[in-house]
Amino acid sequence: MVPALGLLKGIAVVGATLFIWYYFSPEYTEVGYQPKQPIDYSHKLHAGDLGIDCRYCHSSVENTAFAGIPSTQVCMNCHSMIGKDNPKLAPLYESWNTGKPIEWVRVHDLPDYAYFNHSLHIHAGVSCKSCHGDVSRMEKVTRKEALSMGWCLDCHRNPAPHLRPRSQVTNMNWEASPEDQRLAQSLVSSGKISPSLQCSACHR
Ligand code: HEC
Ligand code: HEC
Ligand code: HEC
Ligand code: HEC
Ligand code: HEC
Repeated sequence: MVPALGLLKGIAVVGATLFIWYYFSPEYTEVGYQPKQPIDYSHKLHAGDLGIDCRYCHSSVENTAFAGIPSTQVCMNCHSMIGKDNPKLAPLYESWNTGKPIEWVRVHDLPDYAYFNHSLHIHAGVSCKSCHGDVSRMEKVTRKEALSMGWCLDCHRNPAPHLRPRSQVTNMNWEASPEDQRLAQSLVSSGKISPSLQCSACHR
């Protein structure tokens, strides 16, 4: 009896340890995930210091489910003139000359059984910053949120603190005034903005 119990306890401890290791390790939550990219592209330089709007490169974010990753052509709008001799840009020119797209590594990727749509969030006035953090200060894009179901639902239950005028969704430095906060609250209490909690909204 006693040795068997001891064994069971042992298994329980190993199980609990594996459970904790699995659920709290970055591989699971993926917060902080920052893959190596084929080009040392900096959002801090382009979106921060140079002030290029997010939509210049992520041009489908307002109108489709996907934000989109810019093609080599978009980079070449500037880099056909700027940076010819910069070795950091060599892979860009190679892509341009060969016609082979750059293989950017995805930072955020939901499982296929979950449905997400950018344009619906942008139109409701949810900023990129609420879900991706202040990308304009990132040298390399880092995952800021777990993108778990609980995270989606937390905001769907209480969206008001995340709403702003649509014109400000890509402005990483925007702060809500008391008037903005009142407006956001009234959009939610009047039901004009009411994110779904139905399983079928996200699992179709
Ligand atoms: C000059 C072009 C350009 C601009 C401007 C730009 N981005 Fe990007 N963005 C890229 C490229 C290229 C990638 C893919 C490489 C990477 O992840 O760094 C990317 C990747 C991302 C990703 C990660 C996508 C994934 O794989 O999950 C996010 C999030 C993102 N951008 C948000 C923003 C936001 C927010 C802004 C505005 C503050 C912005 N970007 C401005 C070019 C741009
Ligand atoms: C609107 C103009 C513009 C666009 C579009 C643009 N860049 Fe740039 N990029 C610049 C400028 C300006 C610099 C700074 C050049 C310098 O300091 O010599 C720069 C610098 C760079 C550098 C060098 C950074 C360093 O530390 O030396 C890389 C790499 C780069 N860009 C990649 C990209 C990629 C990849 C894209 C497309 C996703 C892109 N850029 C799109 C304007 C642009
Ligand atoms: C409500 C949260 C939310 C907001 C707001 C949001 N994103 Fe995303 N973003 C996500 C999620 C979730 C994914 C992963 C989607 C997937 O895997 O299907 C993602 C993926 C991306 C990607 C990867 C390519 C793609 O299209 O899936 C880019 C680039 C991106 N977002 C940029 C932006 C930009 C730029 C903005 C603001 C204009 C923005 N996002 C606003 C949650 C958000
Ligand atoms: C920061 C707040 C926020 C986060 C995080 C968020 N959402 Fe939303 N979501 C909203 C708002 C606001 C709306 C718009 C509701 C409206 O227009 O009435 C919305 C709408 C939607 C819709 C359209 C159906 C509807 O409710 O009208 C889907 C689908 C959706 N979200 C999926 C997701 C998924 C999946 C995630 C997580 C990966 C997520 N959302 C994360 C705020 C958020
Ligand atoms: C606002 C969007 C949203 C709603 C509403 C939603 N889910 Fe999810 N769900 C997700 C996302 C996103 C994931 C993927 C999470 C991940 O990758 O960790 C997910 C994952 C799941 C999973 C996989 C296991 C897990 O927890 O990761 C199950 C099962 C599930 N959802 C069931 C449901 C049921 C049942 C409902 C209704 C009561 C529901 N979901 C409502 C967004 C949603």
